Parts: sequence; C-alpha cells; structure tokens
Amino acid sequence: MGILQEGLINETPVYREVELIPEGIVSERLDHLSKWVEQEYQDKNVLVVVVLKGGIFVGSELMRRSTLSDIEFDIIGISNSNGQSTGKDPKIWLDPTNTIKGRHVLIVDDIIDKGWSAKCAIEYLKKGGAESIQMLTLLDKRENREVEVGIPIKVGFIIPGRCWVEGCGLDTGEKGRQGGNVRYRQSNSAPIPETPYIIPD
Ligand code: IMP
Ligand code: MG
Repeated sequence: MGILQEGLINETPVYREVELIPEGIVSERLDHLSKWVEQEYQDKNVLVVVVLKGGIFVGSELMRRSTLSDIEFDIIGISNSNGQSTGKDPKIWLDPTNTIKGRHVLIVDDIIDKGWSAKCAIEYLKKGGAESIQMLTLLDKRENREVEVGIPIKVGFIIPGRCWVEGCGLDTGEKGRQGGNVRYRQSNSAPIPETPYIIPD
C-alpha cells in the first residue's frame, strides 16, 4: 500500500492519499466476479441493474468481460451519500427502463456501507415482481452494517469501515470517481489500515 499524495496547507502536511487496492488487483478480482456471474446465469436470462452512479463503473467492467449471450443491462438511480457519509433514507431518482416482473435480476453497486441503499433497491425490485434477486458489490464495509439486506451478496473486497474511499466510480461530492484503483484520503494523524482489504470467497 503506497502513499500517493500529501496535501499541504502552509507547508504543513494535513492529509495523505493512500492506495488501498492497486488497479491490477481490482482487475483480477473483476475477472473472478465476472466468472461468477457467468456461472450463476449460464442457463438463464439475467437483467443486470446497476445502481447509479458509482455502480455503472463496476457494471460496465462486468459487461465488457461477459461472454453470456442472454444478458441485459439496466440502471436504477439511488442517492444516499452526502459528502463523506451515508444516511438511512435513500431516494430513488431514476427507475429502470425494463419491466422487472418475472426477471432474474442481478443488482450491481460499487460499495455497500450501512446497507440502506441495497435494502432500498431490493425492496423496489421485489415490489416490481422480480423472479430472483442477487447482488454483487465491488466493496463491502460490512463492519458498518445497520440493516440486513437479506439476499445473497457476492463481494469483491471487504474493506475497513472507517475508510471513505474514491476511485472505481466511488466519489467524494462527485469528485474522485476516476481511476482503476481504490484510494483512501485520510488525515495525517490517522493510522494507515494494517489490513487494507480482505478477499472473501
Ligand atoms: P449505504 O446505504 O450506507 O450502504 O451506502 C451505500 C452508498 O453510499 C454507495 O452506493 C455509495 O454511493 C455511497 N458510499 C458509501 N461509502 C462510500 C465511500 O467510502 N466512498 C464513496 N461512496 C460511498
Ligand atoms: Mg452508490
């Protein structure tokens, strides 16, 4: 894990940007996640529903890698973050374009934190009559979970709950989504996490 950049105010370092997950490791894990999607949906039509905006970066990486012939792509707009924290009352600001009734749906997001956004998406899709619902997320801050999402979730990396991260579509107030690595901006007094990520099954 490397320090990418140090922020200075009056020559005094106030924050540093630390690379939590290098691009090559993210890319290898996306290969694995993509193979998992292929195994899960090889015999059936799947509707991938990405949660805007961050999830679209992960969803497009999965679509680019996919060799499934019966795979479709859709979007749902949910907002829940306000700068550097998330709330209990996410809002749906854009509906999927497809009919959900009877579909095998795979929700794709960049990160699950407290769990409220995932719960909101799942409830919406259940109400819409989805035949099955699974979820895939690149990152999981599971130690922050406040609500059980109640469906199977395929996770790329488990990361520490206290890290607000950028990159791979993840932003801070709309900035920082760029780049294929995952970065953590922290005050200089905060310790660098000893275990930056865990790769689950
Ligand atoms: P939850 O509802 O608390 O699980 O928050 C999930 C949503 O909050 C994600 O889809 C992200 O949009 C946003 N979010 C949570 N943690 C982070 C972070 O560390 N960086 C950027 N966005 C985050
Ligand atoms: Mg999001």
